[in-house]
Amino acid sequence: MTMAKVRGIAFDAYGTLFDVYAVGALAEQFFSGQGAVLAETWRVAQIDYSRIRALCGRYRDFWALTGDALDFAADKLGLSLTPRHRQALMDQYAALTAFPENLEVLKGLKADGLKLAILSNGTPAMIESAVTAAGMRGIFDHILSVDAVKTFKTAPEAYQMGPDAFGCDAREIVFVSSNGWDVCGATWFGYQSFWVNRAGNALDRLGVSPHGEGKSLADLPGFVAERR
Ligand code: LAC
Repeated sequence: MTMAKVRGIAFDAYGTLFDVYAVGALAEQFFSGQGAVLAETWRVAQIDYSRIRALCGRYRDFWALTGDALDFAADKLGLSLTPRHRQALMDQYAALTAFPENLEVLKGLKADGLKLAILSNGTPAMIESAVTAAGMRGIFDHILSVDAVKTFKTAPEAYQMGPDAFGCDAREIVFVSSNGWDVCGATWFGYQSFWVNRAGNALDRLGVSPHGEGKSLADLPGFVAERR
């Protein structure tokens, strides 16, 4: 099947544009030797909660849910999280660093005339503050938070925000994520998909594969150029 020509690109936020594991460094300052495992347990619970809530129709916004996941992760690891630590870790979430190659790649794609969007589980306020912290203001044509549809990826209603905002078919949009589950959900939905597989993870066994894969965002422009 020939691919539709690409008209826009929709990016996942956390783990794709912004480095979520950077919170591990701060966690390490508070809980020596356990920062990385706290960050990982927190992230896994956050994603689990988003999917359980989407499946059960029990929406709670991603900021609140991220706090719940942090409380759970601390409990699970037997760490006593003071209000000050909790606040500092949550604040860090609002000002995540971007992966080093990202800004230049995004500017290049924009200069090439592509429309760019973020499509994230994050609340509008979370995405706004991360975009500002990463120096990415003015890059995106659309900042799409699932808060508008009160569910989370991988629900079709969440992915539908992309075609609705761009005013074209999902087949004409490349969806970019570093999360294997997200890139599979986006492919099922009908996007052209690109997996930023920084960690060299194994492909989820869901019977679906992304259309492209790279080691960093720097591999995306080549993939897009072949499809215009
Ligand atoms: C997001 C999470 C899933 O930005 O990474 O939607």
